[in-house]
Amino acid sequence: MNISIVGSGYVGTTLAACLADLGHQIINIDIDEEVVASINRGDAPIHEPSLNALVAEYGGDQLEATTDYERIRETTITFLAVPTPSLPDGSLDTSVIEDAAGSIGRALHGQDNRHLVVVKSTVLPGTTQNRILPAVTSATGTTTESEIDVAVNPEFLREGSAVADFLAPDKLVFGIQGEAAVKDLEAVYAPLISRADPAVIETGLAEAEFIKYANNAFLASKVSLINELGNIAKEYDVDAYEVADALGKDHRISPHFLRSGLGWGGNCFPKDIAALIAAARKQAYDPSLLDAAVAINDRQPERFLELMDAHVEVAGERVAVLGLAFKPGTDDIRNSRAIPVIDGLLSRGAEPVAYDPAASEKMKETYPDIEYAASAEQALEGAVAALIVTDWDEFAVLNREFEAMAKPVVIDGRRVVEPRDGLIYEGLTW
Ligand code: UDX
Repeated sequence: MNISIVGSGYVGTTLAACLADLGHQIINIDIDEEVVASINRGDAPIHEPSLNALVAEYGGDQLEATTDYERIRETTITFLAVPTPSLPDGSLDTSVIEDAAGSIGRALHGQDNRHLVVVKSTVLPGTTQNRILPAVTSATGTTTESEIDVAVNPEFLREGSAVADFLAPDKLVFGIQGEAAVKDLEAVYAPLISRADPAVIETGLAEAEFIKYANNAFLASKVSLINELGNIAKEYDVDAYEVADALGKDHRISPHFLRSGLGWGGNCFPKDIAALIAAARKQAYDPSLLDAAVAINDRQPERFLELMDAHVEVAGERVAVLGLAFKPGTDDIRNSRAIPVIDGLLSRGAEPVAYDPAASEKMKETYPDIEYAASAEQALEGAVAALIVTDWDEFAVLNREFEAMAKPVVIDGRRVVEPRDGLIYEGLTW
């Protein structure tokens, strides 16, 4: 099929490359000329495992990037994969996606054959029906909405495994308002449906929009729940990871997202749970459980630093911060737990020495004035405490490097370092 995709960010580029890999002819539209040029020369504009190989294979050919919205006319289906960020009060900012919808409409002006616009971006219930569809049809100038159909097809991709997640989905969610859209979406994903056999869920537009928020809110709340249980366990010298192993054997709980520690960051969990909370409040509903999930998550870094305080006075001292990315496998520091940890060290008058195998350059934009080490070993030299903030594998094999510390205090926020003789070791929830 000829498919256009508006947006070449982490979702748009992954979608474009993977749909090309499924055999479709892709027009990927973005306003950033450098991103367009990068894709067309076969370089992925974002860091994701396996994505570069796909963009190298299809970029400039079966996956053609362009800034020209008119190219949409060559296709019959357009995915909207543009940012839907948070406003300062946490509510959803739909200005970018509504502008993009208007550009799609203008590109289709005067065309009388049917076109399906599929919303891939994360939007609150009612947005597609009440904001996106009108933005398209008012720009096309069509008298009826029959030529323009809409659908909602949320993604559940994780940073660091976006391609793998796309090619092996648990479920495909199709929010539709008519059977024609189902046939189009089944045709788009046909190779994936036959190969990966995911659950295919046909539902309403608003239900599909809501499923995405519920998915992230549930996962974030599950992590906050295991963190609350872990905090209580710690007060009773109980190892929360031993407990989590047993919980995970219950098929109703599953072993996933039970790793207690410093909690969640990234672009999606904080943004989506904040938008859902704001949306609930807008309808005069008090989302107390979601509020609690956020409050627990926000408190973990300070609990972590208080464990350090119990062992060492850090004012005027070097403290190694091992891990800056919000999770391993990425250089993304958005809402990383390292940020409140560094803030807490600075407020204690400590001298943070930060190390991360991928994210140091990005963290320098936020904290240009702290010291960055080229290795974990260099960060540990002369430090009175080592704070494990991101669960990078390389931190699990540190050993003699700890001997260079002025005081061997290791506070582990991610269950990475094994306690051993010679270390003053504390686990955040174990
Ligand atoms: C998440 C959702 O998983 C994905 O479906 C959605 O499309 C986008 O948001 P992502 O934010 O990339 O993906 O990362 P994820 O692997 O879900 O981790 C989110 C955060 O939770 C990370 O900070 C991670 O460290 C933390 N986490 C995760 C825990 O603290 N404990 C866990 O057991 C799992």
